[in-house]
Amino acid sequence: MASRRLQLTGAALRRGPEVTISVDGRAVRAHEGETVAAALFAEGVSATRRTVGGDPRGVYCGMGVCFECLVVVDGIPNTRACMTWVREGLDVRLQDGLGPADHAARAAEAGPAR
Ligand code: FES
Repeated sequence: MASRRLQLTGAALRRGPEVTISVDGRAVRAHEGETVAAALFAEGVSATRRTVGGDPRGVYCGMGVCFECLVVVDGIPNTRACMTWVREGLDVRLQDGLGPADHAARAAEAGPAR
C-alpha cells in the first residue's frame, strides 16, 4: 500500500512572502500564510503563556477552541496564536496571566544561572 503521507518538501511546500514580526522585542522571520503559533514553533517557543498560577501553556488544539495558546498581539492580550495570521511588523508578546510576560520576574524565580 502506498504511503498517504503529505509531501511537504519541494514544489508541494510554497511559503508566502517573508515578513518580520517581533517576539518579545526580538525580530523574528516568518511568512505570510503562517499563524503566530507556527512562527513561534519555528522559533522553538512552545509555551506561549503562563497561567495566573504560573503554569506554562501552549498550543493544544491548534484550531481556536481551547484558548491555551494565548499571547499579546499588538498590545491586545488573550489573542489566540493559532488563529492569528502573521503580517509585517506584528508585535507578539508571550503572556503571563492576563498581560505581557514579565521576563525579569521569570528569571528571578528561576534563580541564578548555573
Ligand atoms: S491552540 Fe487551542 S485555541 Fe489555540
